[in-house]
Amino acid sequence: MAPLLHRQPWKGLFLLLWAIQLVFKIPFWAIKSLPRSRRPRPSWSISRCVRLYTLRSTMEFPVKLGLVLKRDLTVEVANSTLKNSKFVWIPGLREDFIQGELKEYADKAGVKPSRVPGYWQYKVGTLTESVEPPKDGEKVVYHAHGGALYLGSAHPKDATARIPRGILKHSKRVQRTFAVDYRLCASEPFVPEHPFPSAILDFIAGYRYLLDLGFTPENIIFAGDSAGGNLCLAAARYIIRTPQAGIPVPGGLLLFSPWGDLATTHTDEDSSVIKNMHSDMFIAKRPAGRKGFAGYAVRSYLGKAFEWKDAETNPYLSPSSKHVEGLEGMFKDFPKTYILAGEAERILDDSKILAERMSADNTEYEWIKLDIAEDEIHDFVAFPWCEPARTQALTRICAWIDVL
Ligand SMILES: *[C@@H]1O[C@H](CO)[C@@H](O)[C@H](O)[C@H]1NC(C)=O
Repeated sequence: MAPLLHRQPWKGLFLLLWAIQLVFKIPFWAIKSLPRSRRPRPSWSISRCVRLYTLRSTMEFPVKLGLVLKRDLTVEVANSTLKNSKFVWIPGLREDFIQGELKEYADKAGVKPSRVPGYWQYKVGTLTESVEPPKDGEKVVYHAHGGALYLGSAHPKDATARIPRGILKHSKRVQRTFAVDYRLCASEPFVPEHPFPSAILDFIAGYRYLLDLGFTPENIIFAGDSAGGNLCLAAARYIIRTPQAGIPVPGGLLLFSPWGDLATTHTDEDSSVIKNMHSDMFIAKRPAGRKGFAGYAVRSYLGKAFEWKDAETNPYLSPSSKHVEGLEGMFKDFPKTYILAGEAERILDDSKILAERMSADNTEYEWIKLDIAEDEIHDFVAFPWCEPARTQALTRICAWIDVL
C-alpha cells in the first residue's frame, strides 16, 4: 500500500500546509539574509537566497509525496504545441549494437531496447518543415537531461531543456540540438520499472539516430547535466570499450555538474557533500545513504538485479566513486571533455575527481577541461535566476564547442 502522504487527502493537506508555511517563511528568509555573512555565500543576493531555500523545500516532494510527474513516453507530442522544436521517435536500439558488458547488464536486469521520444530544438528562426540531414561539417549537441534518473524530461518545456537552448543562443556553429527522453527508473512504493541500463540503451539509440541521419561522429557532442552526465559517461565508456559493437566514438563530452558518485562514497569532513551542505538546493543534511532523494534514485536505478555495492564499484554507474573498480586507464581513449561545475554545489567533488581521473588517462594539452564557476549551485545553467554566471558559462562552453 502507498505511504500515507502519497494518498489524498493527506497529500493535499501537506501541500496546503507547505504553501501556508511558505507565505511566512519567505519574509523570514529574506530578513535572515540581510547580513551578507548570514547568506550561504556572501556574494549572493537576498532574492537568490530565498529562491534557493524555496527550491530546497520542494526537493523531498517526489519521494515523500509520490509527486513524480512523469511524461508518458509512449504518447506522441504534436509539433504544433512546440516552439522552435520538433518531436521525433527514436527507434529502439538494434540488438546487434548491444554487446559485451552492456549486453551482460541488460540481460541480467531483463532490460530490452524501446522506442523513445526525441526532441530537436532549433536556433530561433531556423525551424525547417522536416528534419533535414546535416549540412557539410554541421555540429550537433546531443543532450541527456538531469533529474536523478527518475525525474524530468527532454521536452523543451522542462527546466533542463534550457541548457541546449542556451547553447543554441550562444554558439555560432550549432544550429540545432537533439535530446532523448530516455526511460526513467522507479522502485517501491511505486511500480518498479526501467532500471540500469535502460537509460543507457535509449541514449545510445538516440546517438544511432543522429548517425543514421548522416551526422559524422566527430561532429556529435554528448552533453548531459547531473544524471544526464552520468549517462553520457556510461555511453562513451561502452562505445570505447566495446569496439566489436561498431559504434563510433563521439566528438566530445560536455558535462554539466555530472553525477559520478551515485553511492556518495566521498564523505570526509572536507568533501563537498559536507562542506557545501548549506549552499546547494538539496536538503541540508548529511548523506542519507539509501534513503532520501538520492537514495531513492539509486535504489530505483539499481533495480532488483544490482546491489548497492555495484553503485560503489561499477564504473558504468559511478566513475567518480572512491571504490571504483578498474581505475587504471579507466578513461583511456575518451574524447575531449568539458566539465562545468558550481563551486558551491554538493557534488563538486564528483566533477573534480572525474577531471583528475580523465586527465591522468588523456594527457594531451587541455584534452580535459574543468571549469568551476565561483559560488554557483548544482546545475546552475538550468536556472534562469543564476545569471550572469549562466550566460558567462555558456559563452565559455560555446567557444569550446565552436573550435572543437
Ligand atoms: C513532427 O515533425 C517531424 C519532422 O517533420 C516528424 O518527423 C514528426 O512525425 C512530427 N511529429 C508529429 C507528432 O506530428
